Amino acid sequence: MDKKRILVTGGTGYIGSHTTVELINAGYSVVIIDNLSNSNIEVLDGIEAITGVRPDFVEGDCRDIETLRRLFADYPDVVGIINFAASKAVGESVEKPLLYYRNNINTLVNLLDLMPENKVKGIVFSSSCTVYGEPDENPVTEQSPIKPATSPYGNTKQICEEIIRDVIAAGAPFSAIILRYFNPVGAHPSALIGELPNGVPQNLVPYLTQTAIGIRKQLSVFGDDYDTPDGSCIRDFIDVVDLARAHVQAVARMVEGRNLNPVETFNLGTGRGVSVLELINTFEQATGVKVPYVIASRRAGDIVKVWADPTYANTVLGWKATTPLADTMAAAWKWQKALAEKK
Ligand code: NAD
Ligand code: WQD
Repeated sequence: MDKKRILVTGGTGYIGSHTTVELINAGYSVVIIDNLSNSNIEVLDGIEAITGVRPDFVEGDCRDIETLRRLFADYPDVVGIINFAASKAVGESVEKPLLYYRNNINTLVNLLDLMPENKVKGIVFSSSCTVYGEPDENPVTEQSPIKPATSPYGNTKQICEEIIRDVIAAGAPFSAIILRYFNPVGAHPSALIGELPNGVPQNLVPYLTQTAIGIRKQLSVFGDDYDTPDGSCIRDFIDVVDLARAHVQAVARMVEGRNLNPVETFNLGTGRGVSVLELINTFEQATGVKVPYVIASRRAGDIVKVWADPTYANTVLGWKATTPLADTMAAAWKWQKALAEKK
């Protein structure tokens, strides 16, 4: 039987590349579209080295509907889409809101527009725990209140979720699964693919690994006087390979018609809150490498604590995060060292 084809937008990016590996391992064929605005073509070599298969690749921009039309004409067998393509830097979105609204929203609208005529059965959308803002209670379930967005980036995730619900409510002939990621971290254990942060990393783990290897002098811990056990902020750090596997479950569910509702929403996290200081400690224990850090002032706009209740994904999607945080930190470190060797 022919393999089922999945279109992965943003497939050379961080989460997209790991998901492409898991899709290929699960027996799908993949076509990626990426404009390489935040990734590198060499990622395809990494995917091929891990899986033995080079996914088809279209260099193109999802904001351009004609590019997508041509892609569907060339690949009429696409049965499902996973839409990773988006701009994702929170700070940049405050400076350049229109870039974010145009990129993140037009990409989704174009895909939704073309799905019916191309008989695509379902779309998986990358949302974020950012939609919960500072939660009143932890862990957060999918029913926890959505809080007003604090950045244009966060707003695009809320708007995109609403667009999906509206289009399905209007009777679109396809299904959608919204995945709300908590804090994706780590890399493939082979160190053949991983995160490629652009410039000075804003996120904790790439800053930490760059500090451990000596690119940055020290890590600043943004606040140790919060109302948490050790005073630092708490997050739900989810291993990127675990996260990638959830996408395979999600897309399979729709393609095989096993979804319970035309739109389903799942939290993807471990269910465990880990503080910034605990994470540094876990990294040091796992790698034997000391991370020079200082306590700095609080970062404006930071959420104090948020972690997922992943019960719905565990029971209904049949997915569970299994990688211990120490293994995730070891993989992040192995990837950082591999990156250093490439230079
Ligand atoms: P990433 O930047 O590594 O990957 C996104 C990819 O999309 C990049 O390769 C980029 O070149 C590509 N791209 C962007 N705009 C495009 C366009 N118009 N046309 C074609 N390609 C385009 O980001 P990531 O961390 O892999 O995130 C993937 C998705 O998950 C994004 O939607 C992001 O908002 C969401 N998300 C990420 C996180 C996180 O912390 N990494 C958390 C929650 C949600
Ligand atoms: C985690 C913790 C920092 C860097 C962001 C986006 C969110 C989502 C994931 C996409 C915080 C602390 C960080 C540093 C530090 N993305 N920290 N020193 O803020 O949870 O979420 O990425 O949807 O939308 O806002 O992730 O990795 O930036 O920070 O102390 O140098 O680490 O204060 O408590 P965050 P992060």
